[in-house]
Amino acid sequence: MIDITNDIIHMHNDHISLVFTIENKRLLMRYLGKPIRHYHQSLNLQHYKREFNTQHEGFDPKVSFDDLPFVYPVAGHGDYRIPALQVSVNGTAFCDLYFKSAKLLNHKPALPHLPSARDGECLALVLEDPYLHFEIHLYYTLYPEGIITASAMLVNSDQDLTIDHIQSVSLDLSADSYKLMSLYGLHAKEANLQEVPLSHGITRLSSTRGCSSPHTSDFAALISPHQVIAITLAYSGNFAITFDHDSFGKVRMQAGLNSDTFSWHLAPHERFYTPEAIINIASDIDTMTQQFHTFFQEHLFSTRHHERYVLLNSWEAMYYDVSMTRILKQVEKAQDLGIELFVLDDGWFRKGLSSHDSMGDYQVNTNKLPDGITGVAKLVHAHHMKFGLWFEPEAIGKISQLITDHPEYVPHVPGYTLTQGRHEYLLDLSRQDVRDHIMTMLSGYLDTHQIDYIKWDMNRPMSDVGSGEKAHRYILGLYEILEAITSRYPEVIFEGCASGGARLDPGMLYYMDQNWSSDNTDAHDRYTIEQGLSLLYPPKTLGAHVSTVPNHQTARLTPWESRFHMACLFNLGYELDLTQLSDQESAQMKKDIAFYKSIRYWDARLIQCDQGFEWVKKDQSEAVIVLYVPLYNPLLSQKRYRIKGLNPQLDYYDVQTQKYYGGDELCQIGLSLPLVREDFHTILIHLKAIG
Ligand code: DGJ
Repeated sequence: MIDITNDIIHMHNDHISLVFTIENKRLLMRYLGKPIRHYHQSLNLQHYKREFNTQHEGFDPKVSFDDLPFVYPVAGHGDYRIPALQVSVNGTAFCDLYFKSAKLLNHKPALPHLPSARDGECLALVLEDPYLHFEIHLYYTLYPEGIITASAMLVNSDQDLTIDHIQSVSLDLSADSYKLMSLYGLHAKEANLQEVPLSHGITRLSSTRGCSSPHTSDFAALISPHQVIAITLAYSGNFAITFDHDSFGKVRMQAGLNSDTFSWHLAPHERFYTPEAIINIASDIDTMTQQFHTFFQEHLFSTRHHERYVLLNSWEAMYYDVSMTRILKQVEKAQDLGIELFVLDDGWFRKGLSSHDSMGDYQVNTNKLPDGITGVAKLVHAHHMKFGLWFEPEAIGKISQLITDHPEYVPHVPGYTLTQGRHEYLLDLSRQDVRDHIMTMLSGYLDTHQIDYIKWDMNRPMSDVGSGEKAHRYILGLYEILEAITSRYPEVIFEGCASGGARLDPGMLYYMDQNWSSDNTDAHDRYTIEQGLSLLYPPKTLGAHVSTVPNHQTARLTPWESRFHMACLFNLGYELDLTQLSDQESAQMKKDIAFYKSIRYWDARLIQCDQGFEWVKKDQSEAVIVLYVPLYNPLLSQKRYRIKGLNPQLDYYDVQTQKYYGGDELCQIGLSLPLVREDFHTILIHLKAIG
């Protein structure tokens, strides 16, 4: 709903109010937060006369632009905080923005070539530069889940313009004490949570790696005593989430393209669209998570409804050394254990047993697989399983036929040495011929073979693109291919991967049905990775595999049970050599898979609790809880584990122990658990409501 009266624009629903005011033709943001009925200027800031400051025509001399909450700030006029926009014309970097119009659109416009949320009424605010005459259109949509989406469009007038900096959204927030929550990491150690007080000055979370990256996730939550404001982007390339915490304690929070690696030439009358920012207003972190999960599933992520097949991935069992004999042995055993999908990972087209050759050629190596992919697909289907195949479509090998035939497909600044990553380069997805090549190659496989699932990998950061424009055009090109391939083959399941979770973001999950979370499958590390990722992403979008011990990444030995428990609330898969399992392990695996199948389609919520995860049916009639005790420690023997998501009015019984508890008892007092002399120990509790 929207009220526009006396230069006040109040957009609101049951969860959020967003208030803008127009003052002397300047568009200001007066409030963003929990809903209010009306706005009566209560949030106008107090100003006092001070030196070393600027004054502005039409405003009280005590008012400095440096204090005003501009909706889309620009630099150079006295607002010295971070701008949302910087453009230049003939080398002069200057602009100004005045309010022009506000309009409610019945249907939210989709963003061309960019992922964007569906549904909703949309507020379009238009600002205009008085001299260059370009316009900025700002779009805001409120969702019932407590989410706002925001994006900006620059409509050029009749000059050549360079966009040096453009943000999807800028939010000016009141003075408060703020903490900043974010996720940082590395390859195979993604999504580590950190929470720090927001310091004064500028804080920036960003990527320059050409992908959203495992180093800094495109997510931040600003926590104040009253509420949480979290932000992320439906974008998979270089991003920045920036905070300017001024001397009064106010915060300007922005999200958008990273200007360190971005610039764009806009010809006369062209338009530029920013990626969409997703803003989550919640009372606490748990609510933030539920709001993200629901919003993503209802309004942003792929709407194709696929089964959550239990898969077996060949990577850690075979690496590059794939063969028909080895596949046959795995597949025979897999069928018996209840596996539903076999994924043939890397190696099938490589001449050798490493990542050194053939990337991009996709000519099956018939020494390894004499009957080609047709033979493997037939074999897998004959064992009543679906068949999945691995590709790294964006890459081209240093040693490959493709690079010999098409050296121009590699982004390269002439005269400079090319930068390798994993013996390969990225293909230049900003080029139409490269996009056509990838589409033809993938369609060729999907049309000729019965492939039910594609694992789309990407294994190196971007380099040698030579311009910020090309880095962004690469991502637009990627989205174009993903849109085309997922629409042409709607029945095929697509899993995103980038050396694990190096490009796991709302933009990729708009196209992909699921994403590989991390190459690290060690149960202990998985706990923190899943904690981080599931703050945002619903469990069915996150791949989680049980692998062997010692773990191939960490060499750690963790119990079988813990490895399964850490995977079973997400998208379960196995990545180990089934022929090496003991009879006891095989029997356990069969039971585990059957249990997973019984809970995977619950209409349930994933909730993070004290040292674990809860998977609770939305009607609270049943729950599976996984608790984690990293180290055997008698000092913790008196610890109680409080369960969050149950109905306090109901009574529950524990399926394993047959004990009865009140929901209120489990929430308020919690459970105390037996001390087990085991490190990396997990406990799975299955509760059913009585009556
Ligand atoms: C990186 C992925 O994260 C792995 O799962 C595997 O597919 C390898 N690439 C294959 O090269």
